[in-house]
Amino acid sequence: MEETIKYLKEKTNNFSPEIGIILGSGLGEFADEHCDIAIPYSEIPNFIKSTVKGHKGRLVFAEISGKQIVMMQGRNHFYEGHTMQEITYPVKVMKKLGVKTLILTNAAGAVNENFKPSDLMIITDHINNMGSNPLLGTNDDSLGERFPDMSEIYKKKLVTVAESCAEKLGIALQKGVYLANSGPSYETPAEIRMARIIGADAVGMSTVPEAIVANYCKMDVLGISCISNAASGVSSTSLSHEEVIDVTNQSKSKFKKLISAIIATL
Ligand code: HPA
Repeated sequence: MEETIKYLKEKTNNFSPEIGIILGSGLGEFADEHCDIAIPYSEIPNFIKSTVKGHKGRLVFAEISGKQIVMMQGRNHFYEGHTMQEITYPVKVMKKLGVKTLILTNAAGAVNENFKPSDLMIITDHINNMGSNPLLGTNDDSLGERFPDMSEIYKKKLVTVAESCAEKLGIALQKGVYLANSGPSYETPAEIRMARIIGADAVGMSTVPEAIVANYCKMDVLGISCISNAASGVSSTSLSHEEVIDVTNQSKSKFKKLISAIIATL
């Protein structure tokens, strides 16, 4: 960690971001438009490379609305074969760089039948169905406690900020519970019926590990899902990664407007 932080501080001339953003599938464009310094993950000591199509794999530093921001343009996923600890390492790096608010974004399937593709959903809570936990193993007391409370990961005050920004922009928002599966296979219709019964509104393969670690490190989390498709069995068509990227592309302009307004308000 010391090596990673030393490298980033040197490369960025001691940038000290207060807001972190992790940009999900198809949402990386925001970092292209706001980019003062970009460092590929492959050049950062102890970072892992992103291997998924639609994910660039670089850490982007920018000043937006007078605030210093660090963005992950593309994330690492559990389904790539990395450990939970590896995929959440960047969140700990952000904490050490001074980040207090972390905005997590993703593309997700709609479990809630009232949601439609291209809707934006503010995450109010999550269900970890990935079969693992990023905090397994020896606890690092300098970051957080052994048995951290998870009763308000997605801070209500940030949900309110997102809602009032969306209202001013005339953007309709959904709110709901995000359930994470490990992937990489999409769900079966039976799994989606189960997800609905246990209280999920949207389903995806990311975000939850990062949210757990951020909350453990006492960072405030805001989560935004771009609904890219009706989940398995909800519509009769089959699912593809191309469809997920296409639809996310359609909602990216309102996504970018919303993120900019939220940053200006924080
Ligand atoms: N399931 C899981 N992950 C996803 C989906 C989905 O339907 N859509 C986008 N990411």
